[in-house]
Formats: sequence, structure tokens, C-alpha cells
Amino acid sequence: MGEITTLPRLDLLLHRLADARAQTDRLFEIVRPEAFYDRPIPERHRIVFYLGHLEAFDGNLLRNEIGGPASFAPELDKLFAFGIDPVNGGLPDDQPRDWPARDEVERYTRRLRGTVDDAVSTAPAQFGGRHGSISQLLHVAVEHRLLHAETLSYMLHQLPNGRKFPRASHSPAAPQMKPQMIEIPAGTATLGRKRSEEGFGWDNEFEEHAVHVPAFRIDAYNVTNRQFLHFVAEGGYGERAFWSQADWNWLQSSGTSHPAFWIPRGDRYLCRTMFDEIPLPMAWPVYVSHAEANAYARWARKELPSEAEWHRAANGTPSGAEREYPWGDGLPEASFGNFGFRHWDPAPVGAFPAGSSAFGAADLAGNGWEWTRTVFKPFEGFEAFPFYPGYSADFFDDQHYVMKGGSARTAACLLRRSFRNWFQPRYPYVYASFRCVEH
Ligand SMILES: [Fe+2]
Repeated sequence: MGEITTLPRLDLLLHRLADARAQTDRLFEIVRPEAFYDRPIPERHRIVFYLGHLEAFDGNLLRNEIGGPASFAPELDKLFAFGIDPVNGGLPDDQPRDWPARDEVERYTRRLRGTVDDAVSTAPAQFGGRHGSISQLLHVAVEHRLLHAETLSYMLHQLPNGRKFPRASHSPAAPQMKPQMIEIPAGTATLGRKRSEEGFGWDNEFEEHAVHVPAFRIDAYNVTNRQFLHFVAEGGYGERAFWSQADWNWLQSSGTSHPAFWIPRGDRYLCRTMFDEIPLPMAWPVYVSHAEANAYARWARKELPSEAEWHRAANGTPSGAEREYPWGDGLPEASFGNFGFRHWDPAPVGAFPAGSSAFGAADLAGNGWEWTRTVFKPFEGFEAFPFYPGYSADFFDDQHYVMKGGSARTAACLLRRSFRNWFQPRYPYVYASFRCVEH
């Protein structure tokens, strides 16, 4: 990596864009040709959309801001411009025939990729776009694509195994950890980032602010499949008191009675991994929706952490100083956690002790995003990016919750302290786990 850091900034960003493209290219290569127009998750677009979208987004962003690349297929630029996140709406009902043929989409994406690269490399490095510097726009292109690399993985996870080409996959081994809680003394958690800070942050990461957090106790490890199985076996999905009205209505209307990654087989459950169905790995973190995590917490007479509590447990230290990452200020490395596209599935909880926080909480970065009880809202001083006004603002609707941490399929750059992820509470396909707190 040594020579990369000496490259000029723009070249470094183009290098990162090339890496991100390779990452998403590898995902599309998993899809068998006959599955290309499948819709593995009913609420989302067909797979073909995402192939076009990743390039269309970059092209549209740069065209609006720096005047290039020139459009050669305006109808495709528009068709592939936006994804969907329907909270209460109906399901999409488009048909495969409504989409262009695969070779047409591939011709479009190939050509667009080349014109994007030309437009960027011929723009002067200091070029200011209409609303953002070219480096900021390239960061947006890189991270937008990396975020899709993860959401595409959720989607392909739900694609039946016969519809994808398998890839080698293994889960790191670890000694079995006993659930335990850790005392976190009262202290300050710093959320968000300063505009003067070096590096990139999305609109919702600003401004930096300090939050006083009273003392609390937090699970040292994520809730495992074993623990969640107790909740299921004790009838947790049938007990009204553990669920909010909206969550209960969802359970009834969807017929949900176990996590979406579990497959009932006789009196047992299998786990749907990315490429297989295996006996439920008891030591893995359970992946569930916010609704299910919240119901478990109520059953356990606990709560989900707030965003500030999560920060305090992850980045706080007994001395009061705060760290960039749970393990310290050093950049993410493989030994610190299950992130960065190295694995397809979770590892047993506690498999990466080198990545534990100063207070001793494990797996806060990687091995599954973590639900908080905090509704996704702007920080004081929020300003939407004028070149991507809906990135966060479209979701300030009191119907999304903050997730922190990261999963096996989260890029290392998204593990920064200020990064905030969010999802609607009853969407069960996310690589999201949780841990509980007590006050
Ligand atoms: Fe997108």
C-alpha cells in the first residue's frame, strides 16, 4: 500500500473507485444468467436495475456537477437513477420485459464507466463542481458504490442457491463465549464530525457534538442464535407484550415467526448462509429486524442501546479519551473484526479479541451492524448535500432507526466513528445484529 499514499489525491480516489467497481463486478458475477431479472426481495428492484444504477449514479452526479460525461443514453440515465425504499407502500409490480436486455445494459455501463473516467481525469484536480469539490464527489461515488456492495449482498443472500454461482466461504473459528454484561461508567460520547476534519463524511455525520451518557451496562457480545432461540422457544413471537402495535401488525400480516435467515426444518432450524443452508450456528450473532431485536430486549427485560450509549461503549475509554475505532486509532486490519468483504457470513461472537473496545465489548466493528433504539434524525447543524439532497433527508420520517458498526460485507472505510447507517424497523434482510443494555 506504500506507493498508493504518495499518489496525488485524485489518482488515489480513482484507484479506490476502481477497487469499489471490482467489488461490485464480483457480486454480479455470482448471478446465474437466468436469474438476472429476478427480484430476490419483493420490496426491491430486480437485479438488472442495480447493474445499471451504479454507473448511472456516477454519470448523473458528475454530469450535474462538473458538466461531464456527456449523456449518450438519457433514457437509461433516468431509468437507472433511483432505488426504492417503500416504508408503507405497495410492492413494485414491474415485469422483466419492462427492462432493457442484459447486453444493452452492459454496453451502457461499459461505455459510461469509460466516459466517467475521462471526465474525471481531464478535470483539474482543484476543480470545484457546482456544489462540491471533485474529490468530495468522487468520495460520494466510491462510498455509494460500497454501500450498494453491501445491500446487493443482502439481496443476493435471498436469491435461491440454484440461481447463483457459489463462492468459497468459511467462518473463522472461536472459543465459545459466555454472555456477559460490562459496566460503562457515566461519561461523554462524541457523535458526528467537524466540517474542518480531514476526510469525507456524509451529510448526516455533521456536526460534531458531545452527549453526556449516564452509567449503563451493555452486553459484551452480540446476541447469538443460541440466545435468540430461547426467545423463540419461549413463544416470544406470540406474546403481544413484547411488540409495538406496528411491529405486532407486521408479524400478523407477514406470518413472521422466526428470523428471516432461519429456515424451519422439522423441529429444528437451518441457517441460510450466502451459499448454503447449514445447521443453525449457535455462536453466530443472530441477524434480525429492529422489531425482532426490540422484542427480544423486552423479553430479556433490557433495552437496545441508544446511539450515544453505543458510541460510549465502542469508542470511549476509562480515562475519558475517545478512540476513532473500538480498538484504538489504528486503521482497520483483518485481525480487528469480520469486515471488509473477506467473509460472506458471520463469525462466532468474540472471534476477534484484538478488536475489542477499551471497556471490553467485542465485535463492535464488523460481524453484523447493530441496532440502536435511536430514531434516525439529523444532528444539529445538518445540511443536505446539494448534489444528493435525498441521501439522508428522505429518511428523516421517524420510521428508520440508526444502526452502527458494520458487517462482514461492510467496507473498512465505513467503520469510521461518525458513519451512521439506518433502516426501517420491519425489514428483515439486513446483516444486522444487536446487543442489549441495562440501566
Ligand atoms: Fe443508490
